[in-house]
Amino acid sequence: MQYIKVDNGTSIAQTAVDMIVQAIQQKPHCVLGLATGSTPIATYKELIKRYEQGNVDFSQVTTFNLDEYYGLAASHPQSYHTYMYHHLFKHINIKKQNIHILDGTTKQIEKHCEQYENKIKACGGIDLQLLGIGRNGHIGFNEPAEQLQPRTHLARLSKETVQANSRFFTNKKDVPQYAITMGVRTILAAKKIVLLAEGHDKAEIIEKLFQTGITTDIPASFLRLHHDVTVIVDERAGSKVNTAAKELR
Ligand code: GLP
Repeated sequence: MQYIKVDNGTSIAQTAVDMIVQAIQQKPHCVLGLATGSTPIATYKELIKRYEQGNVDFSQVTTFNLDEYYGLAASHPQSYHTYMYHHLFKHINIKKQNIHILDGTTKQIEKHCEQYENKIKACGGIDLQLLGIGRNGHIGFNEPAEQLQPRTHLARLSKETVQANSRFFTNKKDVPQYAITMGVRTILAAKKIVLLAEGHDKAEIIEKLFQTGITTDIPASFLRLHHDVTVIVDERAGSKVNTAAKELR
């Protein structure tokens, strides 16, 4: 895994956006896998800035989001649909038909998940997958468990994740307990993966990511099986990684 430590959140965003813009410039019809959470917000802001400066064109880009809360309609203020339109899509020239986000209200979960996988394949696979990381090592909503699911599926959120997500909901009882998420194999099928981590909260899990083996207790550790992963951290998230090396295995 390629490890890049930068000063702060702004530098994380600039580094990530350099990689995203390069991917789009090399392949204007590229397929991006997108993440939510607080970490990528600065990255989306920087992407909008580059778009407004005329440095990037999204007219041929296709996107697939990692996950969506189960039980929330697209129009819900805390849905990932709302998040993506608010933080990115409504500000850029992406075509609506090229945006793919899982439907949190589907009644036919298995069919919907299978169709999502098929759509990704039909678009030629994900060229660049952006990821955040949960404090417990989850990616998308693949939570630590005895077994991980390879494909897109309905996932029960861990207590820790529900607790972490509750900061976005006024009423604690409204915090979703389930989500639909790409599976670990779906994520690993991306040609390139860029994982962002910011803040002290993430220091421990980033340390574990590099210092423990591959384990379902840390779903992100499966990224070590992939040949092209870049982990971008700020000083705080990287404070426990005891190496200056750029290439960590
Ligand atoms: C949610 C998302 C993940 C994200 C994680 C971390 O659980 N499903 O994709 O990586 O939050 O979020 P944050 O960046 O807010 O710490």
